[in-house]
Amino acid sequence: MVIEIQHGLMNSYDDEYNCSNTLFWDNLPAKFVKLFVEKNLLNLKGCKVLDLGAGEGKNTIYLAKHGAKVDAVDISQEALRRLTLLPEYEVYKSQIDLYNIDALDFNSDQSYDLIVCYGLIHALDNKREALCIINKLKKLANEAGYIIIATFNNLLPPPSVQPYLKVDAFLDSDELKRLFNDWTILEYEESIITETHSTSNIEHQHSISRLIAKKNV
Ligand SMILES: C[S@@+](CC[C@H](N)C(=O)[O-])C[C@H]1O[C@@H](n2cnc3c(N)ncnc32)[C@H](O)[C@@H]1O
Repeated sequence: MVIEIQHGLMNSYDDEYNCSNTLFWDNLPAKFVKLFVEKNLLNLKGCKVLDLGAGEGKNTIYLAKHGAKVDAVDISQEALRRLTLLPEYEVYKSQIDLYNIDALDFNSDQSYDLIVCYGLIHALDNKREALCIINKLKKLANEAGYIIIATFNNLLPPPSVQPYLKVDAFLDSDELKRLFNDWTILEYEESIITETHSTSNIEHQHSISRLIAKKNV
């Protein structure tokens, strides 16, 4: 169900979505989301999940397939439209609510068993916004809830092919880990990834921090 549509919201990734004839991201779950499920850290059946910056929904669909009820939030109406066009969306749509809203404005009365925030933080404007989102996520997780975050760090600058990414929003090396020193960190990794997007076809690299953490009861 589409819960809320705020028309006129735009963000850096909108041009990419609008210029891409195929899925801009692939439709396989992200590395740490897959790892979370494979490690069986939580029985997802009936669990309440927030996918903040859900994009075209590769993680939303994967988690719904494993039984979760997912709130998928994205500022891009085009991203959420693409999510609804996935054949699997038809199968799992009763478990998925879509929110077209800026993550900075998103709030919820309920708390979540698992929060996924894959690729949103480095798309923000600056560090203040990045820290604001991380604090919000920590509050939205329920007691003993889990968080999965992946975000670019400043060991590498934004590539010239993505001029809309702002280094000001990138975390320092190890900063993501430090921000969760009051949680139990289950997985943490910093690595260099090489990507090519359908819109430019230019190979480029990012330095990425990935984390899975559990709230301490
Ligand atoms: C790198 S993409 C990742 C999409 C998806 N999580 C995935 O792993 O395939 C980042 C997403 O965050 C969304 N986004 C960027 N800034 C946002 C904001 N302030 N509020 C909500 N979503 C935002 C973009 O529209 C984009 O879909």
